[in-house]
Amino acid sequence: MASGTLDTQTGTPLPATGTRADIRARTLRTDRWWQAPLLTVVLLTAWLLYGLVRAFMQKWYWVADYHYLTPFYSPCISTGCEPEAAHFGRFLPDWPILPFAALTLPFLLLFRLTCYYYRRAYYRSYWASPPACAVPDLHKRYTGETRFPLIVQNSHRYFFYAAALISLINTYDAILAFHGKGGGFGFGLGNVILVGNVILLWAYTASCHSCRHIIGGRLRNFSRHPLRYRAWGLVSRLNTQHMQLAWITLGTLMITDAYIMAVAAGWISDLRFVG
Ligand code: FES
Repeated sequence: MASGTLDTQTGTPLPATGTRADIRARTLRTDRWWQAPLLTVVLLTAWLLYGLVRAFMQKWYWVADYHYLTPFYSPCISTGCEPEAAHFGRFLPDWPILPFAALTLPFLLLFRLTCYYYRRAYYRSYWASPPACAVPDLHKRYTGETRFPLIVQNSHRYFFYAAALISLINTYDAILAFHGKGGGFGFGLGNVILVGNVILLWAYTASCHSCRHIIGGRLRNFSRHPLRYRAWGLVSRLNTQHMQLAWITLGTLMITDAYIMAVAAGWISDLRFVG
């Protein structure tokens, strides 16, 4: 396009070939583009503070009558854990600075921290790099994820394996929680919450981009692998909801933990249907 050409819609001069448009405004967006990053900061910070307090509280994590164990303390492996709550043994020292589930919490945190969706969310909101589409980056330099520390983001698939294993443990906890007062089978609102949380955790984990690649990747064609093709189709459909599942599971984790804390502390009674 030759220098001196006019924009056909606005009549303003267009820049010469090879040069950038001389736009002085920080952005030409007129919508409230800052709302999404702001909301992300508020919600993620609130969730992290809640999680931090609960992980180190070291009480109100287990309802002995019904065998409810909050996912924030699963598996409970500290010598400080209630013996009945420690389904996999107690071998970590009971220190105030060590969460009772210190073996799994770091992996869950790293799984979410390196998640493709959360990366987008916190790069935009906390790091403003960039805060939104068509809004300039706050930072002068951009080095991508090709060098330390962000190169670590590429290890996401390994945290996916850990998260899948931890989802199995959460499933086991949810099954053990069908326990009535005094023994035998029991079923209450806590079970509905625990099972709902586990189903959604599986949905979030299965919707992971790495999971999708592990299931459908490295194949020359799908026709010789019909099962993997079907599984890939399923996780691909889930994958389209990955962002929603990322937020929903933060909510269900918090609700599950808060409910079990409230019952364990005696603030409320579990609504029992059976046992
Ligand atoms: S991409 Fe989000 S959990 Fe893997």
